[in-house]
Amino acid sequence: MAANGKTLRVGMLGCGIVGSEVARLLVANAEDLSARSGAKLELVKIAVRDAKKVRPGIPSDLFTTDLKSVVEDPNIDLVIEVMGGIDPAHQLILSAMKNGKAVVTANKALLAKHGWELFHASDEADVDLYYEAAVAGAIPILRPMAESLVGDHVERVMGIVNGTTNYILTKMDETGATFESALKEAQALGYAEADPTADVEGFDAAAKAAILAGLAFHTDVSDVDVYREGITAITADDISVAKQMGFTIKLLAIAEANEDGETITVRVHPTLIPRTHPLAAVREAFNAVFVECESAGELMFYGRGAGGTPTASAILGDLVAVARNRNEGSLGPTETDYAHMKIAPISATRTRYSIRMDVQDIPGVLASVANVFAANDVSILTVRQDGRGPDAELIVLTHPANESALAATVKQLEVLNTVKHVTSVIRVEGTIA
Ligand code: NAP
Ligand code: HSE
Repeated sequence: MAANGKTLRVGMLGCGIVGSEVARLLVANAEDLSARSGAKLELVKIAVRDAKKVRPGIPSDLFTTDLKSVVEDPNIDLVIEVMGGIDPAHQLILSAMKNGKAVVTANKALLAKHGWELFHASDEADVDLYYEAAVAGAIPILRPMAESLVGDHVERVMGIVNGTTNYILTKMDETGATFESALKEAQALGYAEADPTADVEGFDAAAKAAILAGLAFHTDVSDVDVYREGITAITADDISVAKQMGFTIKLLAIAEANEDGETITVRVHPTLIPRTHPLAAVREAFNAVFVECESAGELMFYGRGAGGTPTASAILGDLVAVARNRNEGSLGPTETDYAHMKIAPISATRTRYSIRMDVQDIPGVLASVANVFAANDVSILTVRQDGRGPDAELIVLTHPANESALAATVKQLEVLNTVKHVTSVIRVEGTIA
């Protein structure tokens, strides 16, 4: 039972896919949650667009369309924001905190844009701001980064943090489906939004990358700092060639410290990884975050990154954490941006590349192509040629090279007489056997 007879009154902004599960579980598991929190958790108000909509399992008298009434109600101690979007969620959260309320949110888009303003506002208001659900749904990754790994130096974070794109790439890899048909399947299963742009163009993963990078490198990182490419240009051919070469293609969010010790790079793009890499085994709509630390070495966090119930699990974990803090008259740890790492442009990235190109199948082609790589100081690891009548396809895998050198190489290849066109350039991560 609730310890000390304390009550934590909870208000919610939004009751959609995630919010309805939070509300349902708050009511269904009230006794357990109270016993674990040391306080009675009472859901007192929910603001939505349509207060008349029937929402099974949630008492209808809790609903209002008055968003402000939740963040201004003196009887509410904690606000769960699951309405999404930037406005009005941004001002509502600021207002809730100013009014002394703790906030739990799943809003990665908002945190990636205005996170540090919100963190500073929560410090000023002396209230908790928790957001475990904002990255990788049910997977506990943000608190492990902020608490368990805070004594270590994170060197690199690589994550599959968007379920929709991972589902599409898995289907393309396993069944040979085209991007379009795999996307339709993802939409039919409810993974992708009706407008899947944020997923397939990498905006959703970029927001999550910014949040992860901020925590990993104690630096103010926002969505505009993240280099982003989506998966819309990936073809069934790219997937099939990758497979033949022992790779799979994943949309990775990568945040890494550069060798200069002063800069970090944060990028989201389709990436070739060896099929033996732990991230290659992450299938369908699952997410995983692979963290490399100076002392801990490699760690991987895996689980469901989307969906109402998994996301609600992370939100309820935050809710119990806030309730426990309040019982002790304390607050959870705050974010730190003391390191002030600079964000390096993508041109400064150093990684491996796979370049596919259609060439004429005549003597001297290989030499002419190799010369262009050599002239730009890009070292070749392997070359593979597939005959296609009078033409051929060349697939060049490079050693680590600078992005700017690679870009110059591709530009020169495109105007080489022997090269018909460069079909694709995909970055490569992970150890190649
Ligand atoms: P959703 O299904 O679209 O639900 C949004 C809810 O907010 C609805 O209840 C809607 O009211 C309400 N709402 C939105 N704008 C409003 C406005 N201007 N005024 C009043 N009410 C408003 O969204 P969701 O999928 O649950 O996502 C919620 C948040 O969780 C987002 O930040 C999302 O990024 C994040 N998240 C989602 C997932 C996931 O798998 N879905 C996973 C992790 C994080 P009505 O019901 O009346 O329309
Ligand atoms: N659309 C997101 C995804 C939801 O597919 O991963 C979870 O943030």
